Amino acid sequence: MTEFFARARANIALSKYWGKADRALNLPAVPSLSLTLDDLVTETTVARDASLAHDHIELDGVLRAGDEAGTLSAFLALVRARAGVPEGAPGTFLRVRSHNRFPTASGLASSASGYAALAAAATAAYGLALDDLALSALARRGSASAARSVFGGWVELPAGTPGDDTTGARPLFAPDHWDVAMVLALVDRGPKDIASRDGMRRTAETSPYYAAWLATAPLLHARVRAAVTSRDLEATGDAMEASTMAMHASAWAAQPAVRYARGVTLDVLDAVRALRREGVGAWATMDAGPHVKVLCAVGEAESVAARLRTTPGVLESRIARPGAGIERP
Ligand code: DP6
Repeated sequence: MTEFFARARANIALSKYWGKADRALNLPAVPSLSLTLDDLVTETTVARDASLAHDHIELDGVLRAGDEAGTLSAFLALVRARAGVPEGAPGTFLRVRSHNRFPTASGLASSASGYAALAAAATAAYGLALDDLALSALARRGSASAARSVFGGWVELPAGTPGDDTTGARPLFAPDHWDVAMVLALVDRGPKDIASRDGMRRTAETSPYYAAWLATAPLLHARVRAAVTSRDLEATGDAMEASTMAMHASAWAAQPAVRYARGVTLDVLDAVRALRREGVGAWATMDAGPHVKVLCAVGEAESVAARLRTTPGVLESRIARPGAGIERP
């Protein structure tokens, strides 16, 4: 059995994707810009196995079943359809082993690196040769943020046009365009959060502020993009925080509320603001979970990480830097 291996890294959005232009094709309603990180790696190995009657998917050593396996297998069926591999013939199904090389207790397990690595390994296994742009568009079908993890460094995912399945991310700048730090403050896990897919759906369906988010997000994205282009840390941080807060505000106003922040999340935001008052350039962002990621200069990352560790409820704080894109067969 030939094995196919791929490695991908997580990314953090500086301007946020939240909401879909086309649910069936998983097209984002707004443009987003992310930084791929060196620290959060997913490694995936797949093999076509003639003895299987369905895909066999092991994530972090646990065989997946039920809805989770169904969702992953539906993505693999899409890859097979693209590759012209008929469902059910011998050797159709994949044995998948995927590992997140993430810090312990991180809760940062990201669908972004996971689907990017799975798309790369599965297309190789089925002999489907795609360039990075086409691979990114395919990974988007698994998770839109995964489209961005195909590329290293600074990456843009444009808003989609309903019905157009070709939308993928594009690399804006290589990792060495700008060496910044993203300090990850990992906080108590608590009960499971609402999956981003469900959270954005509820926001779109029930939040009175969703329309305002759709109107504002492209403007905030343009600000982030201009600031990243000119390597202006303060302007990037300000625009990133504005995008973060606008996204979360639209979600908080959903009914019932889609709220990812916990008390400790807000305490970390306070700590970041206190750092700024002391003259340290540090800016915060959050995604579909309680953790906080803090953008700062590389030279200040150690002291920012140390400060965040002193906030009660912060389990761990780690420094990530711009990372590479997909590595595939
Ligand atoms: C808050 O990419 O996980 O992290 O496309 O439904 O799988 P699906 O959503 P996903 O959403 C990520 C949302 C976010 C912001 C971002 O990464 O841009």
